[in-house]
Amino acid sequence: MFETLRSVLQFRDFEWDPVERRLARAANVDDLRAICKRRLPGGVFDYIDGAAEDEVTLRRNEEGFERLEFRPRVLRDVSGIDTTTTILGREVPLPLILSPTGFGRIADSQGELAVSRSAARARVPYTLSTMATRSLEEVRDAQAGVSTDHAGAAVVDPRRWFQVYVWKDKGLLKELLGRASESGYESIMITVDTAVLGRRERDVRRGFTLPPQIGLDTIVDGVLHPSWTWDFVNADPIRFANVVGRDDVDGSSAVSLAEHMAAQFDPALSWSDVEWFQSIWDGPVTLKGIQTVEDAAIAADLGVDAIALSNHGGRQLDGAPAPIDLVAPVADAVGGRLEIYCDGGIRRGSDILKAVAQGATAAMVGRAYLYALGAGGERGVDWVLDFLDAGLRQAMALCGVRSLDEVDGELLRHR
Ligand code: GLV
Repeated sequence: MFETLRSVLQFRDFEWDPVERRLARAANVDDLRAICKRRLPGGVFDYIDGAAEDEVTLRRNEEGFERLEFRPRVLRDVSGIDTTTTILGREVPLPLILSPTGFGRIADSQGELAVSRSAARARVPYTLSTMATRSLEEVRDAQAGVSTDHAGAAVVDPRRWFQVYVWKDKGLLKELLGRASESGYESIMITVDTAVLGRRERDVRRGFTLPPQIGLDTIVDGVLHPSWTWDFVNADPIRFANVVGRDDVDGSSAVSLAEHMAAQFDPALSWSDVEWFQSIWDGPVTLKGIQTVEDAAIAADLGVDAIALSNHGGRQLDGAPAPIDLVAPVADAVGGRLEIYCDGGIRRGSDILKAVAQGATAAMVGRAYLYALGAGGERGVDWVLDFLDAGLRQAMALCGVRSLDEVDGELLRHR
């Protein structure tokens, strides 16, 4: 009996590093979300996790993937899986782009620096948001510090893109684009679904402002989330880092996102603004927030290089179509003329495979890496990028496809 007991009672070594301990308990993005929820104050977590109104769009983004079922082929020798593809003319190890997300430093004090370094190590493009809390130049320098990828190979020329909104102040926009170009940002992504801000009711309820304002409830929340609070108070104050010094726009006084947007964003944005961007930006242009075949066709006619089918992670119009449902019809209409990215609801590598099978060039993730950042900082982001890569490989192997060239609509059917 003692022999048997001894053989089963083999204690695991205790993991002293709290980040490793947390990540070791995660098996997927939902687990990272749960850890993130435990670690971050409620208002901060809800800003990241929440969406517009009844959050129907948010839920449907993920459900769209569930409704697609694989048609796996077997006995096909999947001993070598190749996930490489090309995005905007350069090879990437997997069809993945990191979406722009505002206020990265509320999840972890390293914020956009951590995410951009992880992206460089994974060799996938990182899109810095205009509403980032680290500047264009800081992110460039952070990526320059990454010398090797996960496999130890040299990282040369890591990819960074810059996301812009159509602001009323075109002079300021021009200045930002000049800085982006100087700092080696290869492409711009214009967000076109934000003429006005969606109503995010979790933020309304919590009176959430950016930067977070301190009230009695936030103090209690902060005390209940000590490791986040310690990290937050020991870092420099949070600002819209790209416009620091511009008191009207840099976030040095707390504003609700709705107030900020109403003051800065141009509700009159139109297709002529896209042409304006094309005239002043010497490089590829992506439109993020296309939600119909008709608008995809106009974008193609205007000669934009790529569109991101996106409903802003469900944060703008509630009742908008799930991006994954748009991929096939948009690819049928304009597929050969521009690249198509699918942004929203990607939680697994198999979701990336579904997006590509429908006709997308690549998938984009936002919340998945923010949960990871909140759960485990930079190591969390490394973890989730690795998880998505491994999941894509596994799904391909189980579906009997060896390379993305072999992937098309035949791989899927709607349930
Ligand atoms: C900003 O783009 C946001 O969705 O909060």
